[in-house]
Amino acid sequence: MAKTKTVHVCSDCGWDTAKWQGQCRSCGAWGTLVESVAHQKGGGSKAAPVSRAVPVTEVDARPAAAFPSGISEFDRVMGQGITPGGVILLAGDPGVGKSTLLLDIAARFARMALAQGRGPVLYATGEETASQVRLRAERIGALTPNLLLVAENDFDSVAAHVQHHNPSLLIVDSVQTLTVSGVEGVPGGVTQIREVTSAVIGVAKSANMPAILVGHVTKDGGLAGPRSLEHLVDVVCHFEGDRHTGLRLLRALKNRYGSTEEVGCFVLTGQGVEEVPDPSALFISHGSEGRPGSAIAIALDGQRALPIEVQSLFQKGNGGNGRRTVSGLNSARVSMILAVLHAQKKLGSREDDVYVSTVGGASSAEPAMDLAIALASASTMMDKPLPSGLVMMGEVGLTGDLRGCHGMDRRLAEARRLGYKTAMIPASQIGGMGPPKGLTIRPISNLADAIDTIFPH
Ligand code: TYD
Ligand code: MG
Repeated sequence: MAKTKTVHVCSDCGWDTAKWQGQCRSCGAWGTLVESVAHQKGGGSKAAPVSRAVPVTEVDARPAAAFPSGISEFDRVMGQGITPGGVILLAGDPGVGKSTLLLDIAARFARMALAQGRGPVLYATGEETASQVRLRAERIGALTPNLLLVAENDFDSVAAHVQHHNPSLLIVDSVQTLTVSGVEGVPGGVTQIREVTSAVIGVAKSANMPAILVGHVTKDGGLAGPRSLEHLVDVVCHFEGDRHTGLRLLRALKNRYGSTEEVGCFVLTGQGVEEVPDPSALFISHGSEGRPGSAIAIALDGQRALPIEVQSLFQKGNGGNGRRTVSGLNSARVSMILAVLHAQKKLGSREDDVYVSTVGGASSAEPAMDLAIALASASTMMDKPLPSGLVMMGEVGLTGDLRGCHGMDRRLAEARRLGYKTAMIPASQIGGMGPPKGLTIRPISNLADAIDTIFPH
């Protein structure tokens, strides 16, 4: 017989305790403990084991075969694709495109499943009506009879649909809008979020069916609901982007099936979420080549090498503190680099206005961007363009020394692939490295040398 008992759960971190107290002992928040009902299995510890303990040498190590989602950028971030029995939590800001991406995946998966004689895709939404979802499906070309919609706020009813239709994929949009009956708590509250997630995991594991859960994030970027949610599911990924550009990045924060280093690139358009397998052109403006104030670096985001253009604009000041505006880059580093430029080459001064920005909404806080920030700024201050076909990577120290950065081989290979002719890199990184053919390497040991080499008197 199942027994029930009352526990008090922290609505911030999910820690629980039998007795109520004013402060959570796990995260230290005050007044966050709320009463909830915990279900306990009877039987006690003397019950005979139901599962069998297997010697490690006899365990089948072959990974469960994953099914492609139909969007290869998504599959790359997941590992191989969608693994049966696996539960993926997709988190992101409202309006970032979670429902659009998942509806697209749902339709592609449903068409493949139909062709292979597998079950339909069940898309359960607690956020919208079925007709709103159908309108979106029309807009993004996701109409297929093998995609079933249910607009439900009660997870038990979704579970009954799963029993009935035996789907090949379940999508639940969102974990905050569904409830499990018989459990106290409001939808979106810590107890319900945990119960809905556990219920989805239970259904997915018992039917060996993959499930994708949508989760909202709070203003500070964390997942709304208890942190323990992230421990329950197999994959946690974030869908990120800002309102001003269509660019969307998908990153795995936790992945039981693959690396967390992969980044998926997408663009949100009126027709849905399009994958961008080669994002190299996104962050480069083609009109600025040959103009002063533009420099290109190959940045690394996880495993992915991306060219990023840094633009700098300089205006001579007339007394008082100049304005410093930075976008897409670390502003403390930019200030430091401007100070080094002044100290080493007498370029710029405190009174001048300097604007430094990336192109296309790219952002990178990597120290490897330092050299591009420095040379773009030197270029605008001297009103001379950088040579075309040049990329530069390196960390600038306070004395103007250049330090190496990680993953240089990968950056140079990408520079070569994109057709750049010359790469300026720290001299300390030359040893033992075979640069890719067709790319000329200019080793530089400090910032002053870099400027003298590029802009000879
Ligand atoms: P959606 O996928 O619903 O975001 P989420 O589920 O993450 O909250 O919506 C993504 C974007 O789609 C949203 O910012 C607005 C845009 N959109 C269109 O471009 N055209 C449309 O007709 C509609 C309804 C939305
Ligand atoms: Mg949505």
